[in-house]
Amino acid sequence: MTAPEQAGATAGTMEFGRPAAQDDPYLVVENLTVQFPTHDGIVQAVTDLSYTVRSGQTLGIVGESGSGKSVSSMAVLGLHNPQSTRLSGSIRVGGTEVIGADQQTLRSLRGNDAAMIFQDPLTALHPFYAVGKQIAEAARMHNDISKAEARRRAIDMLDRVGIPQASSRVDDYPHQFSGGMRQRAMIAMALVNNPQLLIADEPTTALDVTVQAQILDLLQDLQQEYGSAIVMITHDLGVIAEVADDVLVMYGGRAVETGPTKAILTLPEMPYTWGLLSSVPDITGATDVRLIPIPGTPPSLLNPPTGCSFHPRCPHVDKVPGELCRTTLPELTQATHPGHRKRCHLVNPDEIYLKEVLPEAAPDLIDEETGELIPELQVQLEEIQQETHDHPTKAPGRSAPRGGDHVRADPEKP
Ligand SMILES: Nc1ncnc2c1ncn2[C@@H]1O[C@H](COP(=O)(O)OP(=O)(O)OP(=O)(O)O)[C@@H](O)[C@H]1O
Ligand code: SF4
Ligand SMILES: [Mg+2]
Repeated sequence: MTAPEQAGATAGTMEFGRPAAQDDPYLVVENLTVQFPTHDGIVQAVTDLSYTVRSGQTLGIVGESGSGKSVSSMAVLGLHNPQSTRLSGSIRVGGTEVIGADQQTLRSLRGNDAAMIFQDPLTALHPFYAVGKQIAEAARMHNDISKAEARRRAIDMLDRVGIPQASSRVDDYPHQFSGGMRQRAMIAMALVNNPQLLIADEPTTALDVTVQAQILDLLQDLQQEYGSAIVMITHDLGVIAEVADDVLVMYGGRAVETGPTKAILTLPEMPYTWGLLSSVPDITGATDVRLIPIPGTPPSLLNPPTGCSFHPRCPHVDKVPGELCRTTLPELTQATHPGHRKRCHLVNPDEIYLKEVLPEAAPDLIDEETGELIPELQVQLEEIQQETHDHPTKAPGRSAPRGGDHVRADPEKP
């Protein structure tokens, strides 16, 4: 596969499908399982993962290293080697099935409608060709435009992603760019054809905060202008809070919690998500948030733990009667609020979170005198309850939807 193909920049001749009905989600992932047979056994990288993303909306995927974020996203663009990968389930992009699709269909998908910003910029840029030429070729494969026009678009995109003196750097080779510049060049290549679906895998990790903000703005512009569906994979919960309508938390290759961003960030109901939120330092120092790392290590994907795969690390395992956590995998079930789901046996997770977890992780959110939540948080909780109830398919707390229709990033079947 050539570099431009990987970055979603190669056009096929046939048009990729559209959703069957106008308000169908643009991306539908159902019961996706991805396994890699190896000498040591079968790596169960992704298991029974389902979610949907509508046009104009952003799903944020979070989880520790090795939780299956990249593997599941690469499956969406048909990027796994069919010889060495076992894939099952269904992935529909714009109404067309990706799993089992032939190469022509996949090339059409990656060229016309979907693009990926890779975690590793070197994956997408070919070392033999000038950066601008690769972006221009990507634009020409998709559009009937002259070489001069394609070069102009490449310079414009490089400029928009913040490459200084883009008109002179356009002829540089990837090795002449710094790591951060290569990442921006790859973003330019992924965006040059205004994809309907963009998968951004840690798109801003190597970038300083100013450029990071610029790139996030650019993605939001793309979404507003073209109604793109975006899947944003990131370790940065600040980025999630800023751009994601819905959040999917992954652990050991499975969805463990999902729902509207504000609900997940304000009242998460799964202990792994509690751990993720409590392990983020507040570098501004503006709050009293404590840094509490998650104990232990991520689960083996060759021999996953029985029951809930988080049980060996979960500080709340003994609150569930008997051996349930150790023996029985929890289903992904409805949380307290509509549109919010969690995979956990605890029967009163909201109470545990508000009375135990939050006071330890963020004591300044609790009123010292009354022992109650501070009024601001109380208001937020009431808002979540009200808004998710009123608009179960719309993420609460956004001032306005950014173009397109509503998102429903829900790991249950759509
Ligand atoms: N080709 C492969 N063969 C065997 N195992 C693989 C292969 N590709 C990925 N894996 C394994 O699948 C698991 C999930 O990997 P993945 O890259 O999706 O993690 P991730 O959530 O993106 O992590 P990170 O945050 O570090 O990028 C990991 O344990 C990884 O080692
Ligand atoms: S099911 Fe049990 S082990 Fe798993 S997260 Fe919930 S309480 Fe912890
Ligand atoms: Mg990854």
